[in-house]
Amino acid sequence: MARITAGVCTSHVPAVGAAIDMGKTGDDYWKPVFAGYEFSKQWIKEEKPDVIFLVYNDHATAMDLRLIPTFAIGCGDKFDPADEGWGPRPVPVVQGCPELAWHVAQSVIQSDFDLTIVNEMNVDHGLTVPLSLMFGQPDQWPCRVIPFAVNVVVYPPPSGQRCFNLGKAIRKAVESFDDDLKVQIWGTGGMSHQLQGSRAGLINQEFDNQFLDRLRTDAEGLALLPHLDYVRDAGSEGIELVMWLVMRGALNADARELYRFYHVPASNTALGHVIYENSM
Ligand code: DHB
Ligand code: FE
Repeated sequence: MARITAGVCTSHVPAVGAAIDMGKTGDDYWKPVFAGYEFSKQWIKEEKPDVIFLVYNDHATAMDLRLIPTFAIGCGDKFDPADEGWGPRPVPVVQGCPELAWHVAQSVIQSDFDLTIVNEMNVDHGLTVPLSLMFGQPDQWPCRVIPFAVNVVVYPPPSGQRCFNLGKAIRKAVESFDDDLKVQIWGTGGMSHQLQGSRAGLINQEFDNQFLDRLRTDAEGLALLPHLDYVRDAGSEGIELVMWLVMRGALNADARELYRFYHVPASNTALGHVIYENSM
């Protein structure tokens, strides 16, 4: 049987990807950011997951205003990197896991979540930056990845509650897959940031730290937070944080926070990162 053994959440700041790709990780500005992932890189090297179920958001790279799925599951066998801004990152092609992805699609859709099935798509910094932060710069990513895109870019986003419940449905799906796979679930994006308008540059450390605390101690209550609270308190792009609730919903209530890192600022963003070990 497949098992969800751990959850990882991290910001996906594109400038972090550019710093890695341009060899600037040792610069004064970036050093403390990358130091915050040293523990995580060692941990995941030892954990050796077979598959990562990677919940992220596309930034008008694979999807644009012509097509806006709320939830899209990547069922293809590979996903090429692409991006706006700095362009496609020089990172390995992402190898998918179609057998598990189709199984999850079947189970989760039959649990009344309307997923869009995607067989071909490119993946942007929302997915590749978390991989780089956790795995560094390998020739090939060391495991397979199922990209799961959530629309948090075009109004209306899904609620935190729906994301939390989706996590539960994903977990049920994974645990009913016959192959003996070690699966991790990742939630990405956030923390507080706003890239546009008169509040551009907004960062709210109090909100972020409360979010990190409640994710650990009161995830059910945190899931009830309305989307307008994210936008008001964490900025228009802070709404990316609902994806962390998919990760939390997929783990047991008593999952243990193994690691936490918070750093302000990274580019325009408050950068957050946690690792949770699932209880068995
Ligand atoms: C930044 C952060 C994001 O989440 C993103 O998608 C683009 C830019 C930033 O901090 O500049
Ligand atoms: Fe983003």
